[in-house]
Amino acid sequence: MTDPISTRKHGDVLIVLSNNPPVNALSAAVRQGLVDAIDAAEADEAVKAVVIACEGQTFFAGADITEFGKPPVMPWLPMVVDRIETCAKPVVAAIHGTALGGGLEIALGCHYRVAVPDAKLGTPEVKLGLLPGAGGTQRLPRVAGVPKALQMCATGSPIGAKEAFDCGLVDRLVEGDLVPHAVAYAEEVRDTRPLPVSSERQDRIAAADPAMFDEFRKANGRKFRGFDAPEANIRAVKIATEKPFVEGVIEERKLFMELMGGGQARAQQYFFFAERKAAKIEGLAEVVVPRDIRKVGIIGAGTMGGGISINFLSAGIPVTIVEMGQEALDRGAGVIAKNYQASAAKGRFTAEQVEKAMGLLSPTLDFQALADCDLVIEAVYENMDVKKEVFGRLDKIAKPGAVLASNTSYLNVDEIAASTSRPQDVLGLHFFSPANVMKLLEVVRGAQTAPDVLLTAMRLAKKIRKVAVVAGVCHGFIGNRILMPRQVEAMKLLLEGATPSQVDRVHVEFGMPMGPFQMADLAGVDIGWHRDPSRIESLRDALCAIERWGQKKGAGFYDYDEKRRPSPSPVVQDIIEKFAAEKNVERREISDDEIVERTLYPMVNEGAKILEEGMAQRASDIDVVWVYGYGWPVYRGGPMHWADSVGLQTIVDGLKRQQERMQPDFSFSQLLLDKAAKGEKFTR
Ligand code: CAA
Repeated sequence: MTDPISTRKHGDVLIVLSNNPPVNALSAAVRQGLVDAIDAAEADEAVKAVVIACEGQTFFAGADITEFGKPPVMPWLPMVVDRIETCAKPVVAAIHGTALGGGLEIALGCHYRVAVPDAKLGTPEVKLGLLPGAGGTQRLPRVAGVPKALQMCATGSPIGAKEAFDCGLVDRLVEGDLVPHAVAYAEEVRDTRPLPVSSERQDRIAAADPAMFDEFRKANGRKFRGFDAPEANIRAVKIATEKPFVEGVIEERKLFMELMGGGQARAQQYFFFAERKAAKIEGLAEVVVPRDIRKVGIIGAGTMGGGISINFLSAGIPVTIVEMGQEALDRGAGVIAKNYQASAAKGRFTAEQVEKAMGLLSPTLDFQALADCDLVIEAVYENMDVKKEVFGRLDKIAKPGAVLASNTSYLNVDEIAASTSRPQDVLGLHFFSPANVMKLLEVVRGAQTAPDVLLTAMRLAKKIRKVAVVAGVCHGFIGNRILMPRQVEAMKLLLEGATPSQVDRVHVEFGMPMGPFQMADLAGVDIGWHRDPSRIESLRDALCAIERWGQKKGAGFYDYDEKRRPSPSPVVQDIIEKFAAEKNVERREISDDEIVERTLYPMVNEGAKILEEGMAQRASDIDVVWVYGYGWPVYRGGPMHWADSVGLQTIVDGLKRQQERMQPDFSFSQLLLDKAAKGEKFTR
């Protein structure tokens, strides 16, 4: 392997260049190369200053995450940062792309930082369940100020170069060719002594208000719930304001090691790679070329159609949206406009961006207007006959080679495709509601979907900033299929003696954003209901019959006040008890453990069935679906990773214990049984 670090001289400045694609991760070879280069610079009398820069798309994007969990290889990152900082000659970091994690720590070790305006700087370690462990939590507050460091470390969100300049993290912003500018800067500072050493600075931490930490915790309580790493980051930054640097880094290391040894960091690091793996299509020939998507058509201007449109408009792709009636069309276009205005008010878009996006929208009643679209997404009522009719019509007018997609959440994509003369161009694009917010996109591959159509969808997903997962054709695809056994068991548990709030509490304590009944009330208890109040076959039918349709009616599994605050409902309790009596269900005390075994373990079993049927490409894709589509806590990695961490035999034993009580058509996944018996895991 060629050495990733090279050096060249420009006058009396030594330029140290890293070339370690794709993101200049700080692998062992890079770390060693940096130390060697600094040693060489110090030893060479002719060198008066050093510039550290990177080739390729980015400055160092962090530690090499693939090295985590393996035996450490020297020199380790804290030593490298210290070595740069103690260099007797000025060292300038030249930042483009992203200076993240260990990359930012390298930059903090440098005496000066120069950046291009579109560079980003951040400490995303918290998203990997960690903290910046090479002195970053101690240096960053000393350079950027405590509030900024606190926000960056605990949330992991990067800041732009301009913001970094304003807070003192970047010393100079330069337009154009970065390295020559950095060299010029190095020449300006070559004789400056003493050098500004980040770890020695006191000016930015001296007046830190200790109350800010609790205020920050309080303001972010909801966001940080269940996570270990944000609190460790807060504590580490606070230590920087209380202790000398040398003591601070010892404490930082202790906190880092605690996090690194924990399950959350393992899960979050696993998930980092799971998310990236999801974009890859197994067995795709290299010669496959995606189709060009320059214009998108959306059929249906309802909540889904409108939300889907926003994704494309924001990515600069023109959208033609079609409705049947003027009123529905106006309402739909109005909702899109309102949505943009609300985002602009929150500072997410400028007025010009909103104007530009809205300028790309063409609302019309003319179905024929879809004729020149490269991709048409159907987002009409969830009914097979309606969808077939729409696709039949679309088939007659769409241009050859157009990709035809259905936003169905359950229906058979092959059957929909069969209503066209070009099933190879048809696939499912299952967006999650609200479609402009939720990151997940299930890309449903039909039996005849052409490889280039699938690739087109996966590439396009990235363009509109979605995380796409390939799913096969089965009822509910990956996400909703796994949801079903959970909902069924949750409902059964109510009859057997649990309350909606108990079941929901167990799920929220597990880390889900809400429990099954809170979710049903939010989404609408009446979704998919047969609409016949006299036909009461389930608890849900009983609630729907008296219009307890959820939050929108002020009543569902819970009662709601005018501010939509829920409280347990005596009416629902009464219905549950009556229903249980009618069905001869014996009521008893239900333990929280049983709720976990009855509602979460069957999800793992269903995930295993999805895998054995080939409906998901890999177990980690199932985890990506559940984390991004349903809010499964990322610190538990997703249902399949979680099952691995609990132990598959534990899952099997729990299901066996509960089997008699579960819905009669429950059956074990053979894959789950086999893997448990062999002591294997779903994920690595
Ligand atoms: N280590 C190893 N591999 C990495 C990596 C890292 N830090 N960051 C990215 N990669 C890999 C990805 O897995 C991907 O590999 P494949 O092509 O084989 O899938 C490839 O680089 C490209 O990554 P993306 O697809 O994410 O590319 P992008 O252009 O969309 O995004 C990025 C680039 C913004 C740098 C993004 O990759 C990213 O956010 N990376 C992680 C940054 C991070 O978390 N750094 C902190 C690491 S922890 C640390 O540094 C502190 C410490 O000491 C513990």
